[in-house]
Amino acid sequence: MKAIVYTKYGPPEVVKLMEVDKPIPTDNDVLIKVHATTVNRTDCGFRSADYFITRFFSGLFRPKNKILGNEFAGEIEAIGKNVTSFNVGDKVFGYNDSKMGAHAEYMTMAENEAITTMPNNLSYQEAAPICEGAHYALCDIRAAKAKSGQSTLVNGATGAIGSAAVQLLKHFGANVTAVCDTKNIELVRSLGPDLVIDYKKDDFTKTEQKFDFIFDSVGKSSFGKCKPLLNEKGIYISTELGKNSENIFLAIITPRLGGKKVLFPIPTISKEDVIFLKQLVESGRYKPVIDRQYKLEQIVEAHTYAETGQKTGNLVINITQ
Ligand SMILES: NC(=O)c1ccc[n+]([C@@H]2O[C@H](COP(=O)([O-])OP(=O)(O)OC[C@H]3O[C@@H](n4cnc5c(N)ncnc54)[C@H](OP(=O)(O)O)[C@@H]3O)[C@@H](O)[C@H]2O)c1
Repeated sequence: MKAIVYTKYGPPEVVKLMEVDKPIPTDNDVLIKVHATTVNRTDCGFRSADYFITRFFSGLFRPKNKILGNEFAGEIEAIGKNVTSFNVGDKVFGYNDSKMGAHAEYMTMAENEAITTMPNNLSYQEAAPICEGAHYALCDIRAAKAKSGQSTLVNGATGAIGSAAVQLLKHFGANVTAVCDTKNIELVRSLGPDLVIDYKKDDFTKTEQKFDFIFDSVGKSSFGKCKPLLNEKGIYISTELGKNSENIFLAIITPRLGGKKVLFPIPTISKEDVIFLKQLVESGRYKPVIDRQYKLEQIVEAHTYAETGQKTGNLVINITQ
């Protein structure tokens, strides 16, 4: 089968289109013919290993799993003999950041992993980007216990994580202020926030408003700058470690002090989360934002663009079109 393989950490050019063996499903696995996948910041993180800590998961000196790709949408082509919840021909989507493998014509998933049938009336291209940004956002929103009536702010509302966070927070009933660039104001308004701040015109850290939860989904601010904006027990979460990797340290110290605090949750995803996201998509409460689409052969371009930190939502890779 065709797959995008990387054998060493480095820039976008380390990923190469190659012919490799088709994976063989075990008794508990499904074999998926992948129709669409994505290139996201998780792929870029695993590819570059710029943060040394990622090597403890992906391989100390060279990548353990040589095919990237954590999001997928496709069709089940074969099932292991113990599989009971899927049938050949089912259209499925999901997420796998432990084994990856979606940048290929075929991949396997255990039936109890983060995979379920596709939402009604969605194309493979629309279903592939449902999970990555949304599961990070969901973990952070759950950690902050953000709920109905609370005042929240999402910095970086145009990213994969931020655009999902705005929609999820609205679903949970929060009042949402979204921060984005001038050129994306209309797009961000369409996600349903109560207020939009254009960061090119206004510094959100200078606003008079107070928040229960500030979610910096692009890690461009700091707890120090956001602290004055937080209510007495307000919570700050950033997707980045911070300028001096201070967010981990602050997440250990500040919860013990009883006031405003920093959290740094470890992201997880389960089958139940994927089913939850599917239900939100089906009820029209969540729609992943798609920026550009590429062919498998253009994957280096997709990595290069994802790495700029300027994509708007998600980049879809079409494998079968
Ligand atoms: N290491 C990992 O494995 C990993 C995995 C996932 C995510 N992350 C981190 O999580 C963060 C978000 O990821 P993502 O995929 O959601 O991001 P993304 O899709 O790459 O998007 C970033 C968005 O943020 C906007 N932006 C840039 N500078 C901004 C600023 N100063 N204020 C507000 N918005 C700004 C950009 O638009 P404009 O340029 O138009 O403003 C862009 O739309 C990234 O920092 C990423 O590194 C890391």
